[in-house]
Amino acid sequence: MLSKIVKSTALLALTVCALNASDFTAQAEKDRIEAIKYFEAKFADPAKNKDKFFPYTTEAELENDYEKNLKHHDFNIGTYAYSKDAKSQYEAIKEMPPYEDAIDEGEALYTKKFANGNSLATCFPDPAVAGNYPFYDDKKKDVVSLTSAVNDCLRDNGEKEWNTKKGDMANFQAFLANSSKEAGKKFDIKIQNEAAQKAYENGKEFYYTQRGYLKMSCATCHVQGAGQRVRNEKLSTLTGQITQFPVFRLKWDDLGTLERRLSGCVVDQGQVAPKDESTQMKELIYFMAYMSNGMDIDGPDIRK
Ligand code: HEC
Repeated sequence: MLSKIVKSTALLALTVCALNASDFTAQAEKDRIEAIKYFEAKFADPAKNKDKFFPYTTEAELENDYEKNLKHHDFNIGTYAYSKDAKSQYEAIKEMPPYEDAIDEGEALYTKKFANGNSLATCFPDPAVAGNYPFYDDKKKDVVSLTSAVNDCLRDNGEKEWNTKKGDMANFQAFLANSSKEAGKKFDIKIQNEAAQKAYENGKEFYYTQRGYLKMSCATCHVQGAGQRVRNEKLSTLTGQITQFPVFRLKWDDLGTLERRLSGCVVDQGQVAPKDESTQMKELIYFMAYMSNGMDIDGPDIRK
């Protein structure tokens, strides 16, 4: 009898938890699914949907350069998902990936001993965790990004923190992303309570807020504008936009972190980018990572 009660109480507690958890995630899930549906509709047949989605692109370009019938998981390679021309250049470069050495250097950093005998492996016993960042840390009352987690590990062990944009940080993240990819990991971002939900909402607000004299938001370019051409580049979609970091950019001739890329986009909007370990930057990444939930980790990768 007692065991029956204990069992049913335990079960009840579980359902209550599950209900609460899904409540905190409900809005984010709605956003994620709406975005997927929007992009699938947009890229189902770009030439046919010219008036609705691509009024400024010529019919010839839509016919010749755009893939059709893209589905959710296709979007994790950014622009290369739909632009045939960009994709063939991408595939040519991928034959000799310029980030292989970075993965090896990252692996060496993983086990390199700190002065106190610990190493990054102490903080990240499982390296296949790139898809679990960012998360909301209830003790810190703040979002923890992969970059801030790495620097926290260094600081907590009395080591000097790393540059958050390139070098050791990018190499180490290349190793973590590659380990996650090899283990078949996907983005799995959790929103476990009200504070986490608020952090997600703040990140979303940042993405949709218009800035600068052109009054553009990230969404102007990467949601409504996704698929349009800006000078000689076509715009990537919010869905799957950050599954591939760190990236080796031809423009940088170097490997860089997600923060390096995001800062560039904020500066291009005529604004000062938030600091890489600031709450604002981490909340932005939290929102973007949630929007890629369920998608494969695909880093490191290359971009123009
Ligand atoms: C004026 C248009 C514009 C705005 C506004 C803009 N971006 Fe971009 N963004 C670009 C272009 C152009 C690229 C390069 C092509 C591509 O991959 O989308 C790019 C690339 C990116 C990438 C890399 C995508 C990849 O596949 O590697 C990310 C991530 C990104 N932007 C995020 C943002 C965020 C976050 C904001 C808001 C803070 C923002 N962008 C605002 C134009 C814009």
